[in-house]
Amino acid sequence: MTNRQLFMQHVAQTSDAPMGLEIVRAEGMYLYDAEDKQYLDLIGGISVCNLGHGHPGITEAIRDQAGRYLHLMVYGEFVQSPQVKYARLLTEQLPASLNCMYFTNSGAEAVEGAMKLAKRYTGRREIVAFRDSYHGSTQGALSILGDEYWRNAYRPLLPGISHERYNDPAALERITGQTACVFAETIQAEAGVIAPQREWLHALRRRCSETGTLLILDEIQCGFGRNGTLWAFEQYGIVPDVLLLGKALGGGMPLGAFIAGREIMQSLSAQPVLGHITTFGGHPVCCAAGAAALEALLREGWIAQIAGKEQLFRSLLAHPAIKAVRSRGLMLAVEFDSAEINRQVIGSCIAQGVLTDWFLFAPQCLRIVPPLIITEQQIREACAVILRAADEAAQG
Ligand SMILES: Cc1ncc(COP(=O)(O)O)c(C=O)c1O
Repeated sequence: MTNRQLFMQHVAQTSDAPMGLEIVRAEGMYLYDAEDKQYLDLIGGISVCNLGHGHPGITEAIRDQAGRYLHLMVYGEFVQSPQVKYARLLTEQLPASLNCMYFTNSGAEAVEGAMKLAKRYTGRREIVAFRDSYHGSTQGALSILGDEYWRNAYRPLLPGISHERYNDPAALERITGQTACVFAETIQAEAGVIAPQREWLHALRRRCSETGTLLILDEIQCGFGRNGTLWAFEQYGIVPDVLLLGKALGGGMPLGAFIAGREIMQSLSAQPVLGHITTFGGHPVCCAAGAAALEALLREGWIAQIAGKEQLFRSLLAHPAIKAVRSRGLMLAVEFDSAEINRQVIGSCIAQGVLTDWFLFAPQCLRIVPPLIITEQQIREACAVILRAADEAAQG
């Protein structure tokens, strides 16, 4: 049997049309399949591989930590230097009020932990979330996810959750003295890159403060420099009570985190003690990789180049079949008339060696969230392929 046949038979499938590429190695901006065909990576493992593939600093940090120790003890008991180092490095890059990190294995687990933290800290039970928001696939994260199609098959979901319209002033009235927390993506990714209006986000921040509700911003997909500043919320001049990170946080290794002030976070350590626990959360190898990735991101100057690269993409992506391009830094949604056309464009791009895909709640939009190291030349090549694919799709 081929690996592909074994994959279809023994590896659980999440759809009947997996991409099914068999990648044997990856370097910088490129993936290579078993026939050595090269793919220019426009999705970076979905906003994970910000420094591309095989960054020597990250690989070295993983090797070094693997040679010292792997798993020693469940989260929160031992002083593990990679965890401590990364927590310090991250909190140095955050506003002073976000000074305490809880490391998890994934984004969804960070969401779950934050949800529990908000209930425990406020003593309240209600949660406000937004339509077209994605926060993960576990039962709690699914309960706040903002799309009925994806949620409905898994009822009963958590009670006490309302889904409001993002950017809608009326949503703020649903936040009351009964609301434990509000979950919002700073930039809605899976909706096809939807940014909040500045005044609305400020009003949301104010409403949460007035009602004693925790504002939880999910930067699992949009954080880590992708929007042109290290954190997306920086561009709006507000600070959340809790910040959620994942994806690029581990430098390609599995890692998530919820971050809050120490006083808030302490509510997980008493009555009951061990209010949130995990065996592998904050694994030392993942933390070592993540710390190396963040150090490299800050040292190598990629963030300063993002605005220019975004503009280059925008200037090149002009075609009669493209209805809109929405972007926040190197997070772009290229909108076509229909999901069917987008599927054709994506298929043609992949056949031509450019890897891209669609968005969960915007299947008519092509996703561009490349590693931040993409060069101008690679942007030109990628756009030429997308435009050729759009020509082919337009010709039917
Ligand atoms: C905004 C956002 N939040 C949460 C998650 C869940 O992260 P994970 O897949 O690591 O559980 C994702 C994953 O795509 C995401 O994009």
